[in-house]
Amino acid sequence: MISEKAKNIKPSATLAVNAKVQELKKQGIDVIAFGIGEPDFDTPSNIKEAAKKAIDAGFTKYTPDAGIPELREAICAKFARDNNLHYAKENIVICNGAKQVLYNSMLALLNAHDEIIIASPYWVSYLEMAGLCGANAKIIPTDKKFKLRADAVEEAITDKTKAILLNSPCNPSGAIIDESELKKIAELAVAHNLYVISDEVYEKFIYDGARHCSIASFNDEIKKLTITINAVSKTYAMTGWRIGYCACEAEIAKALANIQGQTTSAPNSIAQKAAVAALTENQDSVAHMVNEFDKRRKTIVELLNEIQGINCSMPEGAFYAFPDVSGIFSERIRSANDFALFLLEKANVAVVPGEAFGSSRHVRFSYASSMQDIEKGMERIAKVVKEL
Ligand SMILES: Cc1ncc(COP(=O)(O)O)c(C=O)c1O
Repeated sequence: MISEKAKNIKPSATLAVNAKVQELKKQGIDVIAFGIGEPDFDTPSNIKEAAKKAIDAGFTKYTPDAGIPELREAICAKFARDNNLHYAKENIVICNGAKQVLYNSMLALLNAHDEIIIASPYWVSYLEMAGLCGANAKIIPTDKKFKLRADAVEEAITDKTKAILLNSPCNPSGAIIDESELKKIAELAVAHNLYVISDEVYEKFIYDGARHCSIASFNDEIKKLTITINAVSKTYAMTGWRIGYCACEAEIAKALANIQGQTTSAPNSIAQKAAVAALTENQDSVAHMVNEFDKRRKTIVELLNEIQGINCSMPEGAFYAFPDVSGIFSERIRSANDFALFLLEKANVAVVPGEAFGSSRHVRFSYASSMQDIEKGMERIAKVVKEL
């Protein structure tokens, strides 16, 4: 019999939607996919070149558990440049994507029955990771615009609380935590001696002049309690290369490297070399991609709001639209899950139902797909919704 832990873990809803899309495509069905959260851009060529060079130079062996010093130094420079965070390479650990940094961080900080505060809507994997650690996820609400407020965090703190998880910009809502609220959350964390796991993988995907702020940058006290997590996955269209990283206190970094050393070892040596190129060379590709996403963001939100029963606020960041579709609900379509199934069957359009993110009224559209697909997809949805 498989373990209780394995029995309780839910499959990733986003990956499940993607698998369904691939299956339908194989049958020759023209599916428009808004499910998967990855840029449709190719990895920039200078990054690919760095990987080819690494292979040719025979850079194909195990690396130190926390990652190669060259990449850890490049990450220190990135944190100083972009986030006003000053760390030495002993504070940096590189993992197999931000996903593994997140999981290892929870393993390093959480004991069984500890509580970790997580705001809803949340990214699909946080709850499962906390569950695998035997910890309890304490889900707290955000406001109408999906913004996390410090008073919601304060209300949730108990003597069992060990950590707060922050994700700004947020997947799925795109919401950015206001700097004034972030400061208050930092004060709460320091006052109650709580760790903060700050998932900042969408930091570059922000629009309308919004500013990204890292909670650890406020002062030394909050910096000591924070693990700041990022990755090259989204920023450089490198989701398949599997490089994520974090900065934290040296004691935590050591624990993270030990966990990694005994479980997976360091991530792929070639991908680490590619990540050095990503972080240290020309950054024009990032601005180009964000500019394109901004246009798609405006188009998808406008077209969604033209559909009767759908209400979508303008996301401030990331590359997802998270509309409220409850205006469409009826005897036939009672939940976001039903609506997502209906869209897949009747319109051949794939979206992720909000239940996976903690809401049965919303569905998630990734707009990291072509403008043509966005326009065609919205047209199909409008047509089938009209016929309801
Ligand atoms: C909020 C958030 N954190 C972490 C990740 C995982 O990133 P990576 O591909 O680097 O593991 C994702 C991926 O979708 C995400 O949306």
